[in-house]
Amino acid sequence: MSETLPFAQYLKDNSRATHDSVDELVMSSKPFDNTDNYIRFLQLQAVFHKVVDPIYKDPALNEKIDGLAELARYDVVLQDLGDLKAAPKAVSLDIPAPEGAEALGWLYCAEGSNVGAAFLFKDAQQHLNFNADFGARHLGPHADGRGKHWREFVEQLNALGVEGADREDALRGALEAFAFYKKVLREVFA
Ligand code: HEM
Repeated sequence: MSETLPFAQYLKDNSRATHDSVDELVMSSKPFDNTDNYIRFLQLQAVFHKVVDPIYKDPALNEKIDGLAELARYDVVLQDLGDLKAAPKAVSLDIPAPEGAEALGWLYCAEGSNVGAAFLFKDAQQHLNFNADFGARHLGPHADGRGKHWREFVEQLNALGVEGADREDALRGALEAFAFYKKVLREVFA
């Protein structure tokens, strides 16, 4: 039945509940209450974006998804940390190295996180005075606008022709990505 849904819609429908639990967990950690908490949030983002960085930069994937490498945000998260004179934090968790169709699920999770980042960007600006030039660079919108960019990205994901067992692997990857995010959050905010 999942074959009838566009690939990205299949991932969305099957990861919605997990997404919402991540959203709640992030907000419950109060990342915008003070700079120390925001630095923890950046450290969490750095661990997550470091895992997906090689996926964004994968040469084969860049042949299929135009401009993918330029969407990577790991270096920008590091710049945000640098703005605040803070460093990445090492975590004790096993760091995954997703491959194949699973990596597509991680990519969906990472790139989609920039859709909801609109809210986080607003909070970072309002509560902490950070912006796209200082401290909250990685939360800024794509030059084409968040919504338009996401719709175009989804079209490219859908055009990859991911079917059958590959879809299931991709979904497993997306769910692992959300689960990993939660684990890192718990450790960084502990
Ligand atoms: C407090 C934190 C967060 C909030 C408030 C939030 C909020 C949102 C909202 C409102 C959307 C748009 C939903 C829609 O169009 O139906 C969205 C999309 C998305 N978010 Fe989040 N989000 C948060 C954190 C995250 C994190 C940490 C990740 C990944 C690790 C993530 C991954 C995604 C993905 C993949 C989508 C795209 C869903 C789709 O249209 O397929 N979000 N988020």
